Amino acid sequence: MKILVIGNGGREHTLVWKLAQSPRVSALYCAPGNAGIRQLATCVPIKVDDLAGLKNFAQEKEIDLTVVGPELPLSLGIADEFRKAKLRIFGPTRNAACIESSKSFAKDLLLRCHVPTPKAKTFEQLDHALEYIDGHSVPLVVKADGLAQGKGVVIARTKEEANDAVTNMLEQRQFGEAGTRVMIEEFLDGEELTLMAFADGRTVIPMIAAQDHKQVGEGDTGPNTGGMGAYAPAPIATDSLRQRIVRDILNPVVEGLSRVGSPYYGVLYAGLMIHRGEPYVLEFNARFGDPETQVVLPLLKTDLVDVLEAVVEHRLDQMPIEWHDEAAVCVVLASYGYPGPYQSGLPISGLSALDHASDLLAFHAGTATQGKEVVTSGGRVLGVTALGPDLRSARTRVYEAVNLITFDGQYHRRDIAHRAVPTP
Ligand code: AMP
Ligand code: GLY
Repeated sequence: MKILVIGNGGREHTLVWKLAQSPRVSALYCAPGNAGIRQLATCVPIKVDDLAGLKNFAQEKEIDLTVVGPELPLSLGIADEFRKAKLRIFGPTRNAACIESSKSFAKDLLLRCHVPTPKAKTFEQLDHALEYIDGHSVPLVVKADGLAQGKGVVIARTKEEANDAVTNMLEQRQFGEAGTRVMIEEFLDGEELTLMAFADGRTVIPMIAAQDHKQVGEGDTGPNTGGMGAYAPAPIATDSLRQRIVRDILNPVVEGLSRVGSPYYGVLYAGLMIHRGEPYVLEFNARFGDPETQVVLPLLKTDLVDVLEAVVEHRLDQMPIEWHDEAAVCVVLASYGYPGPYQSGLPISGLSALDHASDLLAFHAGTATQGKEVVTSGGRVLGVTALGPDLRSARTRVYEAVNLITFDGQYHRRDIAHRAVPTP
């Protein structure tokens, strides 16, 4: 089979790494890819939002299956375009992907399906939003309705902060089009959990539950990032909690989308808050999570090609999916300054030290090749993942590996997985 992966981050490197292990794969391409992906797949310089370019490439190379990493092409309708052209693609249609690209769409769907989620109200007019804030107690959560690269959420501890957030979004157009509508949501405390699932329009099969660390600073402090690390399995997700999430959240949502004529094919990512023992949906994503994928896919025993094909052919109900009984911890190595401005083009050394360790993986996120050298090219540069018999040993191992990789200004959190394993 010839496979094309779309994207250029750590998530896509992990997808390519896992797909490359399949005896069924004869050729592997990635658009546009990065320096790590290049070692496993042929990288082609087509941007993720160039739908026509991607479709032409898939037709020309007679790609048997295209796997979409990021949300942008999904929200632009890449799955619709490919299906029209009779090209097989793993990912939801534009309408189904609205569960991620419109928070108000997702909220309406959740309410219609009686899925537990924090109370919220949507506004397009600033004076109405300010009035609502005035009449409610803080903390409040202000969210841009559209795609804002994970930056469109403000936890407002005071009314001033909430007022500023809605003003920035609705009046200053801080997030452009994505913030012409805002959602003001009730704040829920608790522990967060990511449960991703494969869905084929009817059947839902959950993956191993994970937790990510969104904030840049240790102890989960400071501004939000694209993710500074992750671990799986998350101990908070007992078998019974996972079953409840499938029964009370994922199944009703997949059924609800089918009922409105937008059956969901792909990965359904539920971002949950476990509040007083009950799971509430904070957000959905229409794709694999990043960095969660860097810890979940290394634990997958089954051939990923078989699973993706079962989704595309709507026969997940006949697809046994097996997992390794191990744990994984991923630490993201970032550029100094991230998520603010940072320097790029800095040489990375020590990567080859991981080559022969079967329990260590280095997934590239923001890297490029410059001559023979691998250099930094993004805020999140690498995700280093270690596997182990349990979280504690995976965590010890990942930090041994992280110390071997250096570049100027390398920053990482030293407390990944601290909720599951106390930091030494
Ligand atoms: P989201 O992009 O909606 O997942 O929000 C980003 C982050 O903001 C989440 O991972 C949570 O840490 C936090 N968050 C979002 N909504 C809420 C909420 N209603 N209550 C508490 N924290 C929230
Ligand atoms: N880890 C959060 C996301 O993938 O959006």
